[in-house]
Amino acid sequence: MFRAWPCLAKIRFVVRIRRTQINNKIIRTDPVRIGIVGGTGGMGGGFALRWSRDHEILVGSRDAGRASEAAARYAEAAGAAHGTSPSISGVTNEEAASADVLVLSIPYGQIDAVCPGVLEKAGPGCTVISPIVPMKKTDTGFEFIPMADGLPPAHEAVSKHMRDPSMLVSAFHAVSEKKLEKIPREVRCDIFVCGDGKGSVDLVKGLVSEIPGLNPVYLGPGRLAYLAEMATPLLLNAMIRGGPKNPGISLS
Ligand SMILES: NC(=O)c1ccc[n+]([C@@H]2O[C@H](COP(=O)([O-])OP(=O)(O)OC[C@H]3O[C@@H](n4cnc5c(N)ncnc54)[C@H](OP(=O)(O)O)[C@@H]3O)[C@@H](O)[C@H]2O)c1
Repeated sequence: MFRAWPCLAKIRFVVRIRRTQINNKIIRTDPVRIGIVGGTGGMGGGFALRWSRDHEILVGSRDAGRASEAAARYAEAAGAAHGTSPSISGVTNEEAASADVLVLSIPYGQIDAVCPGVLEKAGPGCTVISPIVPMKKTDTGFEFIPMADGLPPAHEAVSKHMRDPSMLVSAFHAVSEKKLEKIPREVRCDIFVCGDGKGSVDLVKGLVSEIPGLNPVYLGPGRLAYLAEMATPLLLNAMIRGGPKNPGISLS
């Protein structure tokens, strides 16, 4: 959907906040099984390549054949970069929901079509990650759909399909797929994390910090996730109007 995103790698925003709010430590997570719904897309590939160093990955798709092809591609690239034999398999989106952590790497407009069937298959202990940005490109620029069209932010839209909304964590909105897929290169930016359940939030902060150069910054409960989601059109509008050219969001 956001193939224009690679350009985000050219911008860098420096937002001043107190250093004490930033957690620069790497929090190692025990190996988990991570399912990626829409794992054949650019972000799905980035997540698979990064996390397959330490975790088992289920690449999900509407089409199991497409998922298997993507999984084989990711396994080859990750194996070469990490010097390991990663466990990456291609499955249907519903099968991916058997994981301990499920990433909803799908376009905003597909939340209501995809989530009911997938989330009903997720176990009660499954932490769900939403990197979904409700954004569209118009003649004006990149617009935030909740403000432009009065639709709910992505976190709220996904929450409605969750048995336990406290297991939903929003993160990874302002990092480009192009930066994620360049393994093993450092990404070097901060990642806003929003959610209501401490266990799920801590797990996702750990997964963020395992990606070299990424730093998790807890922004608050899920109700505030719209602020993290809004960062993306903000950055992209600045970029297309000649904003700073260095990559990522850096809080310092
Ligand atoms: N791209 C970025 O750099 C970036 C950065 C930050 C956040 N995000 C957010 O991360 C999410 C994924 O981004 P992306 O660029 O990877 O998305 P994408 O490539 O547009 O789509 C990801 C996957 O979603 C599935 N999909 C597409 N249309 C669908 C439909 N109509 N119904 C069901 N599934 C469909 C496809 O998988 P199958 O066809 O195999 O089912 C596709 O490979 C988005 O919500 C985006 O806002 C993206």
